[in-house]
Amino acid sequence: LRSTYLARVADAADAAALEEVRLAALGKKGEISLKMRELGKMTPEERQTAGPALNRLKDEIDAAIRARKTALEDAALDARLRDEWLDVTMPGRPRPQGTIHPVSQVTEEVTTIFADMGFAVAEGPQVESDWFNFDALNIPPEHPARQEHDTFFMHRAAGDDRPPHVLRTHTSPVQIRAMQEQGAPIRVIAPGRVYRMDMDQTHTPMFHQVEGLAIGRDISMANLKWVLEEFCRAFFEVEAVELRFRASHFPFTEPSAEVDIRCSWEGGKLQIGQGDSWMEILGSGMVHPKVLEAAGVDSTQWQGFAFGMGIDRLAMLKYGIPDLRAFFESDLRWLRHYGFAA
Ligand code: PHE
Repeated sequence: LRSTYLARVADAADAAALEEVRLAALGKKGEISLKMRELGKMTPEERQTAGPALNRLKDEIDAAIRARKTALEDAALDARLRDEWLDVTMPGRPRPQGTIHPVSQVTEEVTTIFADMGFAVAEGPQVESDWFNFDALNIPPEHPARQEHDTFFMHRAAGDDRPPHVLRTHTSPVQIRAMQEQGAPIRVIAPGRVYRMDMDQTHTPMFHQVEGLAIGRDISMANLKWVLEEFCRAFFEVEAVELRFRASHFPFTEPSAEVDIRCSWEGGKLQIGQGDSWMEILGSGMVHPKVLEAAGVDSTQWQGFAFGMGIDRLAMLKYGIPDLRAFFESDLRWLRHYGFAA
């Protein structure tokens, strides 16, 4: 009995096999346990020798099982230590990293510069009612400006009598929304996507504008000029800029001005701030009283300026990018060429 069980303990290859041996010998119905129970039927003399012998046997097998268990655990640990190891000094595998898109980067730059001048950011929807996009901006239904905007119209099913909606053709409707929400005085910019049916080297059907709006008791064109000059100096990172205000016309501003920046094209490369070329960068003017009234602002008490400029265009100028369409083609080679992807 002793040698059988000690041999089986030694042969047990894992914890489950060992447990089997333990049950067979020392379990409730184990061979040794049964023998212990039979002690009761023995004569006192027999019991005196068999009792201690059985107890010793039981202890011996128990000890052997424990020893074997520890040995198996040690072996398992050794095997894991041998197989499962990590070389923490090994260099990592390089993974391609996303980078910020030039348009997003320029939007952030623009937002930061205007934030420093006290402009908060306002937002509006890209699918806009034609009242916000046109009527409230003093562009009534038959106004020729509606045609000039090459508008995308939202389809309406027959019987759907919600007011007509368009993909906003400019960020100017956010002027109305911001004034409705915040009243006057107000100082906001509104960067975002706008849409026009147009596609060539300098036009894409979706592009980005940033609107500016400042309304106060006595805000004038002089304030507009200073804000735009400060912005251009900061954005183009030049000591001095020269802006040219050209009389123009927008239904929502009076007077209106288009603004050009002095620049030069030296060896095909654009230089901002000097030279004898002019580059148009934005439209602007004093907010039309009708626009203030449409937005619920008393035009006898308040006045101010608004401007709108193309963010993609600013990016083209700052980073010397000739073709606007490339902005939206997600071509990594192009992004890398202009330093926008690793
Ligand atoms: N909304 C005009 C455009 O898209 C730009 C503009 C904005 C002009 C604000 C004047 C004032 O061309």
